[in-house]
Amino acid sequence: MGKDNDNDNNKGISRRDALKRMGLFVAGAAALSMPSALTSCGGEKKKRIILYFTATGNSLYIARQLADENTELLSIPQMVKQNRYDFEADEVGIIYPIYGHMPPNMVRNFIKQARIKADYKFAVLTYGMLDFNAAELWNGISQKAGTKFDYINTLVMVDNWLPNFDMNEQMKIDKHIPEQVEKIKADLLKQRKWIKPATAEDRRNHDGFMSFSRLDPEVGFLKRSERYFQVTDACIGCAICTEVCPRGNYELTSTGVKAEGDCDFCFACIHNCPQKAIQFADLPDDPLLSRGEVNPNARYRNDHVSLWSIKESNRQ
Ligand SMILES: Cc1cc2nc3c(=O)[nH]c(=O)nc-3n(C[C@H](O)[C@H](O)[C@H](O)COP(=O)(O)O)c2cc1C
Ligand code: SF4
Ligand code: SF4
Repeated sequence: MGKDNDNDNNKGISRRDALKRMGLFVAGAAALSMPSALTSCGGEKKKRIILYFTATGNSLYIARQLADENTELLSIPQMVKQNRYDFEADEVGIIYPIYGHMPPNMVRNFIKQARIKADYKFAVLTYGMLDFNAAELWNGISQKAGTKFDYINTLVMVDNWLPNFDMNEQMKIDKHIPEQVEKIKADLLKQRKWIKPATAEDRRNHDGFMSFSRLDPEVGFLKRSERYFQVTDACIGCAICTEVCPRGNYELTSTGVKAEGDCDFCFACIHNCPQKAIQFADLPDDPLLSRGEVNPNARYRNDHVSLWSIKESNRQ
């Protein structure tokens, strides 16, 4: 991905098109910048804790890639469920998917309560198309919550945002994930101190998205699942949705599956339903959902992550 290249590759949707579809096109939108290559310098093994949030497996896959035999991998929804907020290790990392360039609401609330003791703190934010000022936003949110991160980087993967992307097309795009992982691993090995910088244009693009989407910048995505999702007759009552939702919003009732409650809009439910029975409700007044989704027959879960792992991560 060159700085002047507007496409992720020749087969992929252009960023201009993506912005246009969101009604947010700004001429010369900033290109994604990649961290520079670094040489590993070796060093002794340190105890590392990695906290992650995932809906479709990308962030869990990256968490596993950055883990070694001295790493404890902990799911943030499980930590919240257990009311566990104290973490101590040589290094503590957080991996999450960006939602509108911001952290999931649960991650935002988690960092407000977490007490993290570590010599080195890092965050890796997965995204699909446009990260803009995501690293800077996390830097601000986490510092305000009393935790300063030494290293914040982003990593581009399949974009699971259904309103704009056909998952079948997304999965064909080579986003050079192994190369990105190797660069981040090398950075972590030398405990690099670096926050991915944002340009004035990145900030403008994020601000444009915020006014278009009408999201509260102090909250991010926080919807109500009963308003946004509906279950069709294709449902077979398998109960997968009741286990993959990090908020435990789904319930099997005598009259069918019901979803209710505050919702991170993570899409774990809609992507992991084996029947594609979970669909978006008609939402003509929602700026992001008014046109529905690109392909209701295409769903995604990271190739390297099992449904079981998503359940283990998110079950409430
Ligand atoms: C509600 C929502 C908002 C998203 N916003 C963005 C975004 O602003 N920029 C972007 O590049 N990707 C965005 N994405 C895509 C995800 O960040 C990306 O696919 C991520 O790797 C998914 O991680 P997971 O598989 O661990 O859940 C969004 C996805 C969702 C569900
Ligand atoms: S995951 Fe899908 S098919 Fe299974 S119970 Fe939920 S809505 Fe029904
Ligand atoms: S209802 Fe669906 S989108 Fe909302 S938090 Fe649960 S799994 Fe995520």
